[in-house]
Amino acid sequence: MKAAYIHQPGPPESILYGDLPDPTPGPQQVLVRVGAVAVNPIDTYIRSGMVQMPLPTPYIVGCDLAGTVIDVGPGVTLFKPGDRVWGSNQGLKGRQGTFAQLAAVDQQWLYPTPEGVSDREAAAVALVGITAHLGLLRDAQLKAGESLLVRGGTGGVGSCVVQMAHTIGARVITTAGSPEKAQAASRLGADAVVSYRSEDVDEAIRRFAPGGLDVWWETLREPSLEQIVGHMALGGRIVIMAGREARPVLPIGPFYTKDQRIFGFAMFNAAPDQQRRAAADINRWLAEGKLRAKIDRVMRLSEAAAAHRLQEENTLLMKSTLSGKIVLEP
Ligand SMILES: NC(=O)c1ccc[n+]([C@@H]2O[C@H](COP(=O)([O-])OP(=O)(O)OC[C@H]3O[C@@H](n4cnc5c(N)ncnc54)[C@H](OP(=O)(O)O)[C@@H]3O)[C@@H](O)[C@H]2O)c1
Repeated sequence: MKAAYIHQPGPPESILYGDLPDPTPGPQQVLVRVGAVAVNPIDTYIRSGMVQMPLPTPYIVGCDLAGTVIDVGPGVTLFKPGDRVWGSNQGLKGRQGTFAQLAAVDQQWLYPTPEGVSDREAAAVALVGITAHLGLLRDAQLKAGESLLVRGGTGGVGSCVVQMAHTIGARVITTAGSPEKAQAASRLGADAVVSYRSEDVDEAIRRFAPGGLDVWWETLREPSLEQIVGHMALGGRIVIMAGREARPVLPIGPFYTKDQRIFGFAMFNAAPDQQRRAAADINRWLAEGKLRAKIDRVMRLSEAAAAHRLQEENTLLMKSTLSGKIVLEP
């Protein structure tokens, strides 16, 4: 099979594209003919060595995939050849990645793809959709009628948070780096969008939620807790899920006297049954048209190195040249 892989961590150009042996499914594994994969910032951290995890050699990059089952191991009960599936959480904690024509994946990390949903869309919502669901429902327990801010409403995670919060019945304010992105965020269901390059974000938040926000979802890697805590209502919940090197100061006084809580999490720590619950809602919302993948562009799998370079420029250098996910097709 063709695959995008590395022999050791390094820059995007260390990704090689070429032939590797076809994988054989283990007893609990499903062999998937990959139709589409999507790039996530974590893929670039692992590829570069910034995040260190045990890696198979060679290591196929990538966490997300969608495709069609072509074979199953003897212990597989959930899927059969011909089924369309999607999933995430591969390429992590010693597991092989997904950027290949074929992937052998434990059945516990796969979900059925709803009819009418393409492999592109399913791959593009995989990791980011599960992340948004875990943070909103398991952790912040967002309720209808509450107010929520998410930073970056057209980003991978942000676009899922906007749509899911809107579907739950919350009022959503988000930020955007350009007028086009502001329009896109509104179409996804944001009630208010603040253009952070030309408008006063703090003023816009105060107008949107005069009594304070119930939930703040931070996607920036260097968040200001001073700013966030100051905008929260009594009982406000803050979700933090980016910025491994960040060490922001927590203003304790206004934080505890307003009964606030902070949730931090990495989606890949969530147990398979937690992720499966998230996937069930994602599938329902995809089928109902309440959740749509925000895809910036589709590239060939052979362009994996260029795709990593583009994602890295956005995540580490904040170039704002992306509006959603990079999807690759073998
Ligand atoms: N903990 C977890 O489980 C988990 C899961 C997924 C992702 N993450 C992390 O979450 C972060 C976001 O991931 P992602 O996949 O959503 O990335 P992404 O698709 O690249 O989105 C990044 C967002 O940040 C916004 N942004 C960039 N510069 C900004 C600035 N100066 N001010 C305000 N917004 C700005 C961009 O919006 P504009 O273009 O409009 O500026 C964009 O919407 C990454 O650091 C990633 O590693 C963590």
